[in-house]
Amino acid sequence: AGLDLGTDEFAEVVRSALADVEDLLITELSSGDQIMTEAATHLAKAGGKRFRPMFAILAAQFGTDPGSRDVITSATVVEMIHLATLYHDDVMDEAPMRRGAQSANSRWTNSIAILSGDFLFARASRLVSTLGPEAVRIIAETFAELVTGQMRETVGAGEGVDPIDHYLKVVWEKTGSLIAAAARFGSMAAGADAERIERLARIGDIIGIAFQVSDDIIDISSATGDSGKTPGTDLREGVHTLPVLYALRGDEPSSARLRGLLLDDAGNPRPLTVDAEVTEALELLNASPGMAQANAKLQSFADEALAELAQLPDSPANGALSSLVRYTIDRTG
Ligand code: FPP
Ligand code: MG
Ligand code: MG
Repeated sequence: AGLDLGTDEFAEVVRSALADVEDLLITELSSGDQIMTEAATHLAKAGGKRFRPMFAILAAQFGTDPGSRDVITSATVVEMIHLATLYHDDVMDEAPMRRGAQSANSRWTNSIAILSGDFLFARASRLVSTLGPEAVRIIAETFAELVTGQMRETVGAGEGVDPIDHYLKVVWEKTGSLIAAAARFGSMAAGADAERIERLARIGDIIGIAFQVSDDIIDISSATGDSGKTPGTDLREGVHTLPVLYALRGDEPSSARLRGLLLDDAGNPRPLTVDAEVTEALELLNASPGMAQANAKLQSFADEALAELAQLPDSPANGALSSLVRYTIDRTG
């Protein structure tokens, strides 16, 4: 199901703010250098859901000045940070596709993708400075969390650490933290009071985790091309996401086969390099109870977010955020 923004009047407020974000994004990512501009605007122009700016703009509606220019700036900063991490993530994941287009590393080279990510980060830093030192501090904290999550994912769960606890921690760090920052930024820029800012940030934490869990389910369940990315990328990297972790714990024959495919002799994740193995693993996973378990966990995060939303005043923005929660768990791409 698509996102329901409620009345035409409210939908227009949100759409107009998102259009301002789009303009600012392209302006901030452009420079005097032609190849830098082309590479740095590549992913922004390829599309994307603009989930984080949307979240920031909806969170801003709970403040006293939702029309403030700082709201647009905040929403744009968060998307720029997100885009910067995608350039680097696609290098690390060796991902060929992003947003239905070639990733920057496959369109150009790893070097160009890494430098483009750095450029986006530099421009996001310049823009966030206009919001003041507290905003700079929050973005710096969030950025450290993103990088730590990515590091933790790369290193994997250590000895004696429950892999599902490890996974959930990584997912909060690499995705939840930035979506929480989007909520915090949007509501702060609109002058919301501290209690509301905290509640919206908490909702961001939960929706962010749900968003990444659904992303991980889609990496297994989507047909090639449907998500704008290449399915099975996590398996190729040896990254075991929630449905995989559940499936590996099962006692069905398919779980035994999956353990044979996905784990090495020491029981550590084994990256899949053979296409036929990826295809087989994806088929087994899609038929496994691990998928239903992951979907049930996803639903429980959605319920938690909806319960938090019920504590905020009823309003068009509250309705739209509820719809965003439902969209997060129902989306297929
Ligand atoms: C996507 O996960 C990755 C993240 C949300 C976080 C990435 C963070 C970094 C790369 C930190 C370093 C960044 C810079 C600019 C220094 P995924 O691979 O599971 O998602 P995908 O399916 O969208 O690829
Ligand atoms: Mg990736
Ligand atoms: Mg990754």
